[in-house]
Amino acid sequence: MKLLLIGFGVVGQGFAEILRDKAAELQQKHNFVAEIIGVVTASTGTLYRSNGLDIPALLEAAQGGSFALYPDQPGLRRGMTAGDMITAGDADVLVEVSPTDLETAQPALDYCHQALDAGLHLVLANKGPVALDYANLQAKARDKGLQMRYEATVMAGTPTMHLAEDALAGCAIRSARGILNGTTNYILTQMETGMSYDEALAQAQELGYAETDPAGDVEGWDAAGKVLILAKALFGGGLRLTDLDVSGITAISATDIAAAKAAGQRYKLIASATPAGGSVKATRLPLDDPLASIGGSTNAITLETDLLGDITLIGAGAGKLETGYALLSDLLAIQRRTSAT
Ligand code: HSE
Repeated sequence: MKLLLIGFGVVGQGFAEILRDKAAELQQKHNFVAEIIGVVTASTGTLYRSNGLDIPALLEAAQGGSFALYPDQPGLRRGMTAGDMITAGDADVLVEVSPTDLETAQPALDYCHQALDAGLHLVLANKGPVALDYANLQAKARDKGLQMRYEATVMAGTPTMHLAEDALAGCAIRSARGILNGTTNYILTQMETGMSYDEALAQAQELGYAETDPAGDVEGWDAAGKVLILAKALFGGGLRLTDLDVSGITAISATDIAAAKAAGQRYKLIASATPAGGSVKATRLPLDDPLASIGGSTNAITLETDLLGDITLIGAGAGKLETGYALLSDLLAIQRRTSAT
């Protein structure tokens, strides 16, 4: 499988590390062989080689801050645009891991459409295109016999979308409710131990949980993007960001957290989606609510189904390898589905 990556930040690098470290196991167990043939970034440069880039050298150059550090190789091309890479005809999958923009989803959204037009499958960690243009992208993918997969957009590699789509196929899902942002859950957990908001946020950034602009996390918009994605994937319909009732954790002070603790309660940023709408709200939960015990960057989601009642999934909500793994799980799913047809 030949891959083009748009973006090469925490998630892209985590994914590349997994490919580097698990290549033999993936080939042996899953007959899965992937090559990164192109990488486009806003700040580090662009690299393209139709026979595959050297992943350790790619990671080293990225960590050094510039693809100029990547050694010359036969067939290596520097400075190509994303559009040129998409239309060059070598790639099988576009992996969109550039920062999320929930207002326009651009430039990622244009790349996604170009990739589908050119016959590439799509795998996204970028939430923008999925949250804002799900129906069009999915319809185009279906018409062309291609797949759009986006496990990374909700709860990192914790298999939320795989659960809903595969394991729960045949059940109707009526609602989804949970903790869907790792950064804010980490901050709230650390603040309960007495850490300041600023220090906890700095740690969440250091650990690779926060978005490039962490305002999106702490003001609730990252979780809202996930609510939109869940609403569209689970229920269909044309919900927009402005239809959601969204607030974050910025108004919650250390005093509020201490008061909740004294009353046997805990603040959590609770996201919910139903066919009628959705919300993201900091909520005081009693300690015996199962969601109250979800700490750190861990996330949890409860899917209400018609045949099984509630199904709750708890797992990583953010992180380098945790989100990088989501991309791998989607690529393996693409391989399974394309080899089954
Ligand atoms: N910034 C996001 C979070 C990353 O903290 O949950 C995972 O989507």
